[in-house]
Formats: sequence, C-alpha cells, structure tokens
Amino acid sequence: MSTTAATLEFSTLGVIGPGRMGSALAESLSLQGYPIHAIAGRSEACPKARALAQRVHARIARAQALAETCSLIFIATPDDAIAPLADTIEWSAGSAVVHLSGATDVQALQAAQHCQAHIGGFHPLQSISQAAGTATTFQHCTITIEAEHEALSKDLATLAHALGSHVNILPPNTRMRYHAAANHASALLVALMTDMARLWESWGSSEKDMMDALLPLMQNTLSAARERGVTQALTGPLARGDVGTLEGHLAALEQLDPALARRYAVRHQPLLTQAPDDQRQQIAALINAYAAVNTHTS
Ligand SMILES: NC(=O)c1ccc[n+]([C@@H]2O[C@H](COP(=O)([O-])OP(=O)(O)OC[C@H]3O[C@@H](n4cnc5c(N)ncnc54)[C@H](OP(=O)(O)O)[C@@H]3O)[C@@H](O)[C@H]2O)c1
Repeated sequence: MSTTAATLEFSTLGVIGPGRMGSALAESLSLQGYPIHAIAGRSEACPKARALAQRVHARIARAQALAETCSLIFIATPDDAIAPLADTIEWSAGSAVVHLSGATDVQALQAAQHCQAHIGGFHPLQSISQAAGTATTFQHCTITIEAEHEALSKDLATLAHALGSHVNILPPNTRMRYHAAANHASALLVALMTDMARLWESWGSSEKDMMDALLPLMQNTLSAARERGVTQALTGPLARGDVGTLEGHLAALEQLDPALARRYAVRHQPLLTQAPDDQRQQIAALINAYAAVNTHTS
C-alpha cells in the first residue's frame, strides 16, 4: 500500500465479478494504493477473472476461497445474481460483504449477515462501459454508501475519497427512490434526446445536427440549475406564461405523433407550479388535457 493510502479496518480486498464495474473498481483502487488480494469469476478458469487478476497483481480464486481470505468483499455481479451468489457462500464472521448495485437492497446480502458478516452497499453514480479503470475513472463522481456497521461505513467512505469521489450516505429503505432519481439522469435523459432527435429528423436534419444545436442549450440549463437552483433554471413558454406558444407546440407534435404530444405535456406537469399566477389555470388545463390522452404508444 502506498504511504498516502489511509488505513482500513477491513483491509484485505477481494472482488467477485470481473466485469465492467468490478474491473474498473479493482484497477482504480489498486492504482490508489489499495491492493486487491483476490479476484473471482464464475470459475478459476474464467478468462476475464484471470486477465483482471494479472492486471492488479491479485490471486485468482473461487468465490468461496475469496470469502475465506478477504476481509472486504465487493460483489460486482449483475444485480439479479447478487442474492443467489451470497446464498451459496459460507461467509466469514466479522468480514464485510458489499454490493455495487444502485437498485438492489442491501438485504440481498442477508445470507452474509446470517454468517455474522457485515453488509453494505457501494454504488458509484458513474457509467462504466468498458472493463478498465484508471486513476480518474471515479474522480468527481458520487459514490453512495449504505452500511450500518460504523467501521465498514468509514472504510467505504475512505475508499470513495481515495478514488476522488464524493460520498452520499443513503438511509435504509430509500434505495428504489434514489435509483429512480439516478435513472432520470441517464436513461430518461436519453428518452428526452430521443424525442428531440425525432423532431429534428422530421424535417430532414440529423441527430448530430440536433446535438450540435441543442447541447449548448442543455449545458447552459444544467449550469444555471447548478449555480442558481433547479427552479431558477426554468425558461421558456411555461415560465413566461405564453399559452399560445404552448398550444402551438402541442398541436404541432399532435400532428406528427400524438404520443409525442402526450409525453411533452406529461413532462410539463411538474413545472405547472412555476407558471405565472395569471396564466397558471389556463396552462394547467391545456397541459393536463394533452397529458390525459391515453395512447398505447407513449
Ligand atoms: N457498469 C456500470 O456502469 C455500473 C454502474 C453502477 C453500478 N453498477 C453495478 O455493478 C455491478 C456489476 O455491473 P457490471 O456492469 O459490471 O456488469 P457486467 O459487466 O455484466 O459484469 C458482471 C460480472 O459478473 C460475473 N458474474 C456473474 N455471475 C457470477 C457469479 N455467480 N460468480 C462470479 N462472477 C459472476 C460476470 O461473468 P460472465 O461475464 O461470465 O457472465 C461478469 O464478469 C451491478 O450490480 C451493477 O448494478 C454498474
């Protein structure tokens, strides 16, 4: 361990699941001076596990052997495999078992708890699309930590800080709401861009044209939200009370595809409280009427 790496209570690290996140985390931690003791894939012959173990100078092990020799074990399998995997292992009392999923309850690791191990969650709010980590992979991102055991919570925060990340502490029973918020920032942002591209393509422009033109606008809105708060970032016809412009948008979208008009209206609903007092009722009636239209394609 490098001289700058803070000491951990659970200091022998192991990673089960040598995929995108498991690899990026193992490599990034190793680069920050936290050696990885062992890597486990589905079997000792797993090529991805072997390659990762070689890259981080770790042993290759079966999951059971890893659980017996490591004190902090990250489970980096797909979400659906976390509980079934945890159920098959005889965990060591006093060790720590942590998954990396945003959507999975920490209780998926209850088999480890039954063996007197401590359990937790360590969810990087970061998108990892390739199995390699660098010193900057997790820099400036947020890692959400959930662990009742104080020393484990402290160790997870230490590791997150070592990776250059901010720490978010998640209270119990809030994981699905938390992950739904994160999904707004990724998948639902893509949903918005999909509709924006559809509109630009409707007059023969390309998705690239759309991105070139609208990305600066989006970036400006994001900067305004960051600097002045989400509410203050709102501009456009709803904020101005321009009922006629909103009517025009909705009619044009309806003509192209009623599902587009409905989605446009539904997306305006959380903003209705920000319409000017004099026009709020009229705008709400317009938006809610389009939002209520039942289409199976929206
Ligand atoms: N990637 C991201 O952007 C991201 C972001 C935040 C959180 N996460 C979380 O990180 C975790 C891993 O996601 P990922 O994207 O890294 O998935 P992934 O690329 O599919 O990697 C999963 C790895 O787990 C292995 N695996 C599956 N079942 C196993 C078992 N029973 N024993 C040992 N290894 C097993 C897979 O092996 P095979 O290749 O042989 O199937 C694969 O190497 C998930 O909980 C996910 O929610 C991911």
